[in-house]
Amino acid sequence: MIKGKKVVLRPINKQDFPILHQWINNPAVVSFWYGKDKLRSKKWVKDHFDVIIKGRTNSSCWMVEVKGQPIGFIYNNVNKDDDKKFIGRVELDILIGEDNQWGKGYGTDALKAMIKYAFEIQRAQRVYLTPHIKNIRAIHVYQKVGFKKEGVLRHFEKFEGQWIDCLMMSIIKKEYEKTKDKKDQL
Ligand SMILES: CC(C)(COP(=O)(O)OP(=O)(O)OC[C@H]1O[C@@H](n2cnc3c(N)ncnc32)[C@H](O)[C@@H]1OP(=O)(O)O)[C@@H](O)C(=O)NCCC(=O)NCCS
Repeated sequence: MIKGKKVVLRPINKQDFPILHQWINNPAVVSFWYGKDKLRSKKWVKDHFDVIIKGRTNSSCWMVEVKGQPIGFIYNNVNKDDDKKFIGRVELDILIGEDNQWGKGYGTDALKAMIKYAFEIQRAQRVYLTPHIKNIRAIHVYQKVGFKKEGVLRHFEKFEGQWIDCLMMSIIKKEYEKTKDKKDQL
């Protein structure tokens, strides 16, 4: 379990499949994510998340909970080399699936908690994510928690039938430590 100020993060489990299915089939939620044309079956959800739960991929998936209620999830993908050794990079991706819970600071808090986990527990050197360039809300939240824009990833994804650009955004360890030092002084 990872604790934020407003949210708690816990690994997803099989009981979460129905709500995950609901979220990733909500057009409002996936309009900057998989895309509205990629609606997912219950089987797809089971196959996709089962391997993560069983630890068969480099990703973990954490449910974001507020007062015990799931509102979304965060992927944490550990980048490894050919010897299956961690190479210092952790990629994050977040989705707050309950769209009536947007704008309440939960995404910000969940990311802060996960960034702390990545640097302090996973010992990351770099934490990064790649939002769609037009996902202004997500980019705003990412900058708020310390991610810096590195550059444009041209035609990085095929999204709703079109090649679209994404942004590479990252925080490196020394930047994280500076923000942590500042907080310690307050
Ligand atoms: C992006 C997302 C994770 C943000 O989570 P959230 O809980 O709504 O975020 P918060 O409430 O912590 O913060 C929202 C911030 O965005 C701002 N915001 C809201 N709409 C905005 C917009 N259209 N443009 C710019 N900023 C916007 C809010 O003002 C707030 O910033 P502030 O605290 O400085 O005022 C969530 O909206 C989501 O899951 N969206 C759908 C999936 C998605 O896009 N995931 C990201 C994939 S890269």
